[in-house]
Amino acid sequence: MNKKIVEKLNDLIQLDTDAVLAYQQAIVGCEVTEILDHLKRFQDDHQRHIGDLAELVRAAGEEPMIKRDLKGFLIEGFTAIASRGDRGALMAMLGNEELTNMRYEAALEMELPDEVRAVVERNREDERRHLEWIKEAVAGSFWDIKEGAAAIASGKKSAA
Ligand SMILES: [Fe+2]
Repeated sequence: MNKKIVEKLNDLIQLDTDAVLAYQQAIVGCEVTEILDHLKRFQDDHQRHIGDLAELVRAAGEEPMIKRDLKGFLIEGFTAIASRGDRGALMAMLGNEELTNMRYEAALEMELPDEVRAVVERNREDERRHLEWIKEAVAGSFWDIKEGAAAIASGKKSAA
């Protein structure tokens, strides 16, 4: 495997690491169970991507660059995501997932060995699914589920 591919895999590892951290912030800011469940699952996907990509780098005899510093942080609005609530978290992750989708698409434009392409394609499919669900959640104002349910439970408002 050539150096360029190893570099690209390390770039994706950094991207997925940023996504895990961004999801951590988003999860802290969320209260609606359905949103929380999805964000946690998406975060698990990104965590799995890091492991699978790192394995490919090691198989090529290189050391995966698993960085934790925020200097190279690609995901926007990191510190501002938490405490914005469900809507804010979804809006922030919408932008972040658009970025991860773009970066995975770009990686697939490279010539890749079959075993690398298989992993990158699988990850890209996860990214598509994440973006699709978040778009649906934003379009459907899923954050209103909480307010509606709380109103019914407290009996302060009618169910309508
Ligand atoms: Fe994602």
